[in-house]
Amino acid sequence: MRSLKNVLVTGGAGFIGCNFIRFLLEKTPDFTGRIVNLDALTYAGNAASLADIDSRFGGRRYFFEHGDICDRALVESLFVKYGIDTVVHFAAESHVDRSILGPEAFVKTNVVGTFTLLDAARAAWKEDSGGGFRQDVLFHHIGTDEVYGSLGEAGFFTESTPYDPRSPYSASKAAGDHLVMAYGHTYGLPVTMTNCSNNYGPCQFPEKLIPLMILNMLEGKPLPVYGDGKNIRDWLFVEDHNSAVWTVMRKSASGERYNIGGENEWENIRLLEFLIGVVSEQAGLDIEKVRSSITYVKDRLGHDRRYAVDCSKIKRELCWKRSVDFAEGLSKTVAWYLANTQWVDSIRSGEYQRWVEKNYGERR
Ligand SMILES: NC(=O)c1ccc[n+]([C@@H]2O[C@H](COP(=O)([O-])OP(=O)(O)OC[C@H]3O[C@@H](n4cnc5c(N)ncnc54)[C@H](O)[C@@H]3O)[C@@H](O)[C@H]2O)c1
Repeated sequence: MRSLKNVLVTGGAGFIGCNFIRFLLEKTPDFTGRIVNLDALTYAGNAASLADIDSRFGGRRYFFEHGDICDRALVESLFVKYGIDTVVHFAAESHVDRSILGPEAFVKTNVVGTFTLLDAARAAWKEDSGGGFRQDVLFHHIGTDEVYGSLGEAGFFTESTPYDPRSPYSASKAAGDHLVMAYGHTYGLPVTMTNCSNNYGPCQFPEKLIPLMILNMLEGKPLPVYGDGKNIRDWLFVEDHNSAVWTVMRKSASGERYNIGGENEWENIRLLEFLIGVVSEQAGLDIEKVRSSITYVKDRLGHDRRYAVDCSKIKRELCWKRSVDFAEGLSKTVAWYLANTQWVDSIRSGEYQRWVEKNYGERR
């Protein structure tokens, strides 16, 4: 089992990254090390998500560094300053619709940024003599199931499914994945990688399906459903994703990759109907009135039909399993958004409002 001490988390002010940092510091007794959170605080990053972590662990076990993963000099300096032995790379441009409207930022962060981190790790972790690397280091890359393309009604993505990315987002993530595995293969850099299905949970930016719908319901706004609403996604509670990532980081051999999924497929429209029930109950809304707000809008360009992940490898080899079922996870998520209105208000800036207007305005 690896002992990971000085961990550089990229994108730790985003949805999954902030939950990962919280998971390690609050719920993982076998982690006693330090975390450095490098985040550029793009529209999707919010340092307020970790304000309580900063006040409890800041300066001792938690350090925030504001900066860009493409900034080679900065990244190199952090390896030295904190003696980084582990990288967990979450930072990304992550929203498919944004990648359709403006792909350039996706290539910069998801491809060039990933390369910059890998190359800085290669330089920092070289052994003094010989061509090898220190034995106590690891670069873990966070991938998505979207790199595999789109499924028909049957079948699942396995770790050996050929890549077939179909949006600028998934293409840029696929390029990052390939670089990670190439650095492992070519240079022997100790790398591991996970490809996960759709996450949901606290602190997710409200452009994504579940928080968008929760907040629109609470504000009495239309509930926009793309196309016929029958696209299928596999959903996993964010803490289960993070426990899987930690399991892989601790137990997996270098060079390995694992799929992570919830074994929990939902058509978008069925998910929305279920969510309407949960939100209406918790917020005391008139369920029929909320249902009548469902509005079908023009589909996303190139919208993949179905994603479904086969996660039997991580279950079999590393004994990981999901612990939160969908009803419980959704209930926790809705409760979190109801209790954290200040967090929501703080990120719904002018930039976000303008983006919503551009993305949904054109679909009416
Ligand atoms: N959300 C999902 O359902 C899901 C599923 C599978 C995989 N993933 C992957 O997980 C990772 C995290 O996703 P998320 O949903 O938390 O994303 P997010 O958009 O919520 O957060 C991304 C974070 O990265 C930061 N960032 C962006 N560009 C940066 C740069 N150049 N330098 C430094 N920081 C930068 C942002 O400020 C933000 O804090 C991504 O790699 C994504 O591809 C997400």
